[in-house]
Amino acid sequence: MRVTVIGTGYVGTVTGACLAYLGHRVTCVDQDLNKIEKLRMGQAPIYEPGLEELIVLANERGGINFETELAPAVRESDIIFIAVGTPPLPSGEANLSYLESAARGIGAAMDASRFRVVVNKSTVPVGSGNLVETLVREGIEDSNPELLSSITFGVASNPEFLREGSAIDDSLYPDRIVVGADNPKTIELMRALYAPLIDQSFSDPSFAPRPEKLQDGKQPVPLVATSITSAEMIKYSANAFLALKIGFSNEMSHICERVGADITDVMTGIGLDWRIGRGFLNAGIGWGGSCFGKDISSLMHTAAEYGYQARILEASLAVNRMQRGMVIQKLQEKLYILKGRTVALLGLAFKPNTDDLRDAPSLQIAEKLIQMGVRVRAYDPVAMSACKEQNPNLRIAYCPSALAVVEHADAVVLVTEWPEFANLHLPQLAAKMNKPVLIDGRNLYHPERAREAGFDYTGIGRAVPARRSTDSNLPRSQAALVE
Ligand SMILES: NC(=O)c1ccc[n+]([C@@H]2O[C@H](COP(=O)([O-])OP(=O)(O)OC[C@H]3O[C@@H](n4cnc5c(N)ncnc54)[C@H](O)[C@@H]3O)[C@@H](O)[C@H]2O)c1
Repeated sequence: MRVTVIGTGYVGTVTGACLAYLGHRVTCVDQDLNKIEKLRMGQAPIYEPGLEELIVLANERGGINFETELAPAVRESDIIFIAVGTPPLPSGEANLSYLESAARGIGAAMDASRFRVVVNKSTVPVGSGNLVETLVREGIEDSNPELLSSITFGVASNPEFLREGSAIDDSLYPDRIVVGADNPKTIELMRALYAPLIDQSFSDPSFAPRPEKLQDGKQPVPLVATSITSAEMIKYSANAFLALKIGFSNEMSHICERVGADITDVMTGIGLDWRIGRGFLNAGIGWGGSCFGKDISSLMHTAAEYGYQARILEASLAVNRMQRGMVIQKLQEKLYILKGRTVALLGLAFKPNTDDLRDAPSLQIAEKLIQMGVRVRAYDPVAMSACKEQNPNLRIAYCPSALAVVEHADAVVLVTEWPEFANLHLPQLAAKMNKPVLIDGRNLYHPERAREAGFDYTGIGRAVPARRSTDSNLPRSQAALVE
């Protein structure tokens, strides 16, 4: 099929490259010429493992090109994806101006040569599917009013569930594909587009091997066909629930600290119950990123518009906000006076394997510490240049390695659980510090081992040292979680 993807950010670039890898002919369009020029040179505009390799293969298979002009791409396409940003406004509502301009642009470019599907992949408030349809029509009316009755198109909501850092795996091997549409023809076109994903009939790239559960046609990927409104609600509910799982672990971690229990053991213990599941039950300094905060705020806003106060969502935001402050509190408990101290941050990105700093806990922690008179140093494997560029007034001293960042520091805070931080030689690190205080904001390290390495270790919700895996009779995979 001929496909256009509007927006070459974290979602659009990966979606475009995956669809071309599956054999579709894809044009990615963005208004940002810098991004398009980079992509034309084969460089990804964002850090996402495997993306540059995938773009090469996408080009060899279905074919992919990158443009700033929307109209020619739309005219040639059967399916047009909208994957533009929907950032939050100060009121908590989603800013739909990018979506509106994309939808009008699509309408303005359409002709009557074929039936097209306009697919909304951006996360949008419930009801936006109708808005997209209206805006596309307005676009037609403004540019080609004489064609209004002869142009045919369908609108679908196809929410995206990829995680930055594992976006290619998530896109090629999704748990499910959700398509909301109000007419069968639109659903059928979407089913045809995604057929290789549903059947897993494509050969897997070497850098993103097919997971065991999807090998040999064992099971197809479910396509969940719903109304547009339900599809929009699925996306918001999914993010709200995931954030809630993290928030729940954090709430429990406070109680664990007070009663002398270990949150990691407790979450493993409840996560083995299939009704609960272990994923996302990780206590720490809280979630960040471009989606959870804005999506929960937007959902609360929608609920309020319909006269409903979403109390669980409010609590989820409040617990997360408080959690970031735990770092300062724990530093004060260890160092008493923070003014004039040097604190090292390990990690800046909101999570590992991305350069994304949107709503990253690191920024809020650094800002607060600087305000309190602390000298802040930081090291992140990939997000330092983005951090410098996006926060020119934040007085962080950027360091070239984990060993360099802790030198003469009074405390080190593990902010992002990058894999390289899990493998650090802790005794060497502790020896370089002025005071070997370690605040493990992600419960990455084994408390006993960190203490043996010479650290004054504090995790989140780990009042007692966790048991060794050999003490437990859990299966190995679960024992690893305890460890
Ligand atoms: N980032 C994620 O992990 C993720 C996951 C699931 C869903 N989403 C949702 O997907 C959407 C996109 O997110 P993102 O992180 O990729 O955003 P992003 O900010 O990284 O990228 C958006 C891109 O759209 C471009 N753009 C904006 N208006 C345009 C227009 N009219 N024409 C052409 N290009 C235009 C921008 O220049 C930018 O490059 C959001 O609604 C987000 O909530 C994001």
